[in-house]
Amino acid sequence: MITRDESIALVKENVKNKNLVNHMIGVGAIMKGLADHYGEDSHLWEVVGILHDVDYETFGEDFANHGAKSAEMVKDILPDNAIKAIRSHNPLTGYEPELKFDIALLAADAISGLIVANALVRPNRMEGMKAKSIKKRMKDKSFARQVSRENVMKCEEIDLQFSEFATIAIKAMDSVADQIGLSK
Ligand SMILES: [Fe+2]
Repeated sequence: MITRDESIALVKENVKNKNLVNHMIGVGAIMKGLADHYGEDSHLWEVVGILHDVDYETFGEDFANHGAKSAEMVKDILPDNAIKAIRSHNPLTGYEPELKFDIALLAADAISGLIVANALVRPNRMEGMKAKSIKKRMKDKSFARQVSRENVMKCEEIDLQFSEFATIAIKAMDSVADQIGLSK
């Protein structure tokens, strides 16, 4: 199995935008936090989070290829369930998120955007962030408007109340804050 460092190296080889690389590391951390919560394979879930957008600068003109190309790029590295999760995080690929693993990736991808945007307007960045503030941001549709609130709320399909999901995600992002430019 590919290591965390190897997966980050593969991302950096393929994605030059630093914000995107940081996004993937953040989603990886949230996936690991979720896997720990469920008693799933935290290494696999983290690596999937890190690699899910590895094609972002190379998938081409058609957004339907996003995710499909990532899946192709990692097909010899990751097991089938991981490849399916990566593909289905963009339903335009024709693959719908079905399993807990798939839905977790979709929801983690979305909530990471809210958490990053919230950290960037806080003087202390990730430090001391509470689920309550993410809840407020959820309701303010003009804040980080590109974030799909619907995808964030998919957490309920995988047996997590929003506040519990936000707490796990904040803790996870805080654990990598210094790696993704979100420490104080
Ligand atoms: Fe993403």
